[in-house]
This record gives sequence, C-alpha cells and structure tokens, in this order.
Amino acid sequence: MDNFAFHNPVKILFGKGQIAHIGAEIPADARILITYGGGSIKANGVYDQVKAALAGRTVLEFGGIEPNPRYETLMKAVEIVRTEKIDFLLAVGGGSVLDGTKFIAAAAPFQGEDAWEIVASKTPITSAVPLGAVLTLPATGSEMNTFSVVTKWETQTKLGFASDLLFPKFSVLDPETTFSLPLRQVGNGVVDAFTHTMEQYLTYPANAPLQDRFAESILLTLIEEGPKTYAEPTNYEARANVMWCATMALNGLIGVGVPQDWATHMIGHELTALHNIDHGRTLAIVLPGVLSVRREQKKAKLLQYAERIWGITAGSEDERIDGAIAKTRTFFESVGVPTHLSAYGVTVETIPVVIERLVSRGMTGLGEHQDMNPEQVSKALTISA
Ligand code: NZQ
Ligand code: ZN
Repeated sequence: MDNFAFHNPVKILFGKGQIAHIGAEIPADARILITYGGGSIKANGVYDQVKAALAGRTVLEFGGIEPNPRYETLMKAVEIVRTEKIDFLLAVGGGSVLDGTKFIAAAAPFQGEDAWEIVASKTPITSAVPLGAVLTLPATGSEMNTFSVVTKWETQTKLGFASDLLFPKFSVLDPETTFSLPLRQVGNGVVDAFTHTMEQYLTYPANAPLQDRFAESILLTLIEEGPKTYAEPTNYEARANVMWCATMALNGLIGVGVPQDWATHMIGHELTALHNIDHGRTLAIVLPGVLSVRREQKKAKLLQYAERIWGITAGSEDERIDGAIAKTRTFFESVGVPTHLSAYGVTVETIPVVIERLVSRGMTGLGEHQDMNPEQVSKALTISA
C-alpha cells in the first residue's frame, strides 16, 4: 500500500426531511446564492423546501446551469457573486450543478486574466467562496469531493480540476429528492458510481485488501440495488442505498494508497464533448473495451473481479475475464444504459477524432501505468462500436 493522507471534511445530512436543517449549516448573516439547473427542482418541490429552510435569509438565485456545465454560463454567475457580494453558494441539483458551483466558487475570487485558466492550466486557486449542496441525482460523488468538470462550449473542451478549497461545507442527501428522476438518469448514475469504483479497484494488486473489499462492497451493492431502484423509482430503501454507494464511490476513501486508472473517464469526456452523450452513458461504452484491451496489465484484478463480484471461477483465464466483462455489459444494459457506440448513432469514424483530441492534450499514456497508448484507446472503442 502506498503512503497517503486522507482528509474529508464534508458533513453529510442523509435522509428524509434533511433539507429543513440547512439553515443551521450556513452562517446567519451570509449572502446566499442558490444555484440550480434547468428547473427540475421547481417541478419536484425541492426548491420550495430549500426556500422554506432559508426563510428570512438573504437569498439570491442563479438558474440555468446545463448538464455538463458550461464555462460561458457559469461566468454569468461569477459576475453576480462579485457584484452582489455573495459569500455562500448553495448548489441544488445533480453533479452538473454541483460542479458548476464549484467552478463559480473558485472563479469569483480568481485574480488572473481568465478564470478558464483554473481548468485548462490547472492554475492553483488560493481562495474560494464556501459552498453547500443539496444533491438530487446520485452519480458523481461531487457532493463529497473536491472535483469539478467544466465544458468550454466555444471549443467543445471538457476538462476537470480540483482543489481542497472546493469541498462542500455540507451536503444533503435526501433520497426522496431523487424520486422524480427520469429513468435514464437513474441508470446513468448507477453506471457512473460503478465505474468510479472500478477505476480505483481494477488496476493491479497493491496489498490493500481493505480498499479492495470496500470497492467490492460498493460494486455488489450497486448490482443488487441498482436494478431494484431502476424498476421501483420510489422505493426509498433501494434509492437510499444507491445514493450512499455513489457518494462512497468517489469521496476518496476507496482510492487511498492504491493505484488508479481514469482512462475510461478521460475517453468518455471526449465522447460527451463530441456527441453530447450523457456522462454515465459514455462510461458504459468505454469501460468494457478498456478492460478488454488492458487484460494483461489488469489480469490479477480482473480474475479477482470475476470471482468475487460475478462468481466466475471456471474456465481459462481469458474465458473468466471475458465472462466478467460480458457480465459488466449486461449489468449496465439492465439499468437501461446501452454499451455500444452504434446505440447512440455514433460510427467508428469518431474514433480517430477522439484519439486526435487526446493526443493534442498530451494524453498519450493513460491508465494506472500511464502506458495506455492511442492504439489501445482505438481498440477499446472499436470493441464497443
Ligand atoms: O437541470 P435540471 O433541470 O436540474 O435537470 C437535470 C439534468 O437534466 C436532471 N435532474 C437532476 N436531478 C433531478 C433531475 N431531474 C428530475 N429529478 C431530479 N431529482 O438530470 C439531468 C442530468 O443532470 P446532471 O447534473 O448533468 O447529471 P449528473 O449528476 O450525472 O452529472 C454529470 C456531470 O458531472 C460530471 C460529469 O462529467 C458531468 O458533467 N462528473 C463530476 C464528477 C465529480 N465532480 O467528481 C465526477 C464524475 O466522473 C463526472 O465526471
Ligand atoms: Zn463519472
């Protein structure tokens, strides 16, 4: 196991009715900006709950943050934060609203010429507006981590950045707020959480059996509860379990001291930028191909995954690995997420474009060994054509 420092200060308020308690988490004299997306929170009553919890407080609003939040839109909110002297941001929505709000938090006090630098050049930030979150879509883990992914629409560039200053002060996870999710988003969320877990687990043995078993417990719970919550959207217990899985999959815990492989995410971001495919759906396309072409480097963990997650113990090594990959595909499809490019109307012609974009950013060595080259990326995508 590698050395590590682990620090996660996010206070989680989990369960029914927890939105009512956010007032106590925000300084009494704060000038609050509520940020949200395209309006789902107004249709499902979450907005009303938030407003009621903040009655009597100074509250402004900024709506219209898109899925795959855009720098161009977020800069309008930055302007409001600056002119209105906002000193607390409350993100209410899915991962895009949370990520967008993290960017706003970082960009508002940013002194440089153009806040896109924070994303593109990873210019470290030295201050950020404090933020809290009410999460309405279990998927990204953004509610308990420091990451944010932002798109520059002008150049169709989708990139991530992170800073410890961007940990939310608190996050509300009320499974009831997710009952209104379209099924497509439920499936996306299950796949996203599953893939986050896989990218921290399915690398090579690092003598970290506890991290392995944390990861395996998340995978097994998602396999059990994911289809249940997809079939029964208002089953509170199933939704609660998936919600907690998604948070635990990317709050840092399972990834401490072990190698990580974010190749699937890096490739997936290009498919979103080029074809506007939902984040979770890109992962369902890419992950099976990545596991297949990286089978030599990942052999020991793939066999462990086959046995411990899918109960596959018979057959040659390749047969067991192929069996586990096939099960993974079937699982994604079982929550309504197609795993082939063709299902999204995308042809193989996109593959060289993806490669070219990755190469142009120097991303020629992906994965836990930084050696997944463009040719292998091409093969991985071809497998899922
Ligand atoms: O915009 P509104 O009207 O709110 O509708 C949203 C949006 O259309 C809707 N929605 C959310 N909660 C709802 C709801 N509809 C009905 N009822 C509810 N309770 O769902 C749609 C998708 O929302 P979005 O926030 O885009 O989805 P998700 O949470 O999957 O976030 C995806 C974004 O997060 C990034 C992705 O790249 C993508 O940009 N990621 C962030 C990560 C992080 N911060 O750690 C890691 C992830 O790997 C990921 O990259
Ligand atoms: Zn993700």
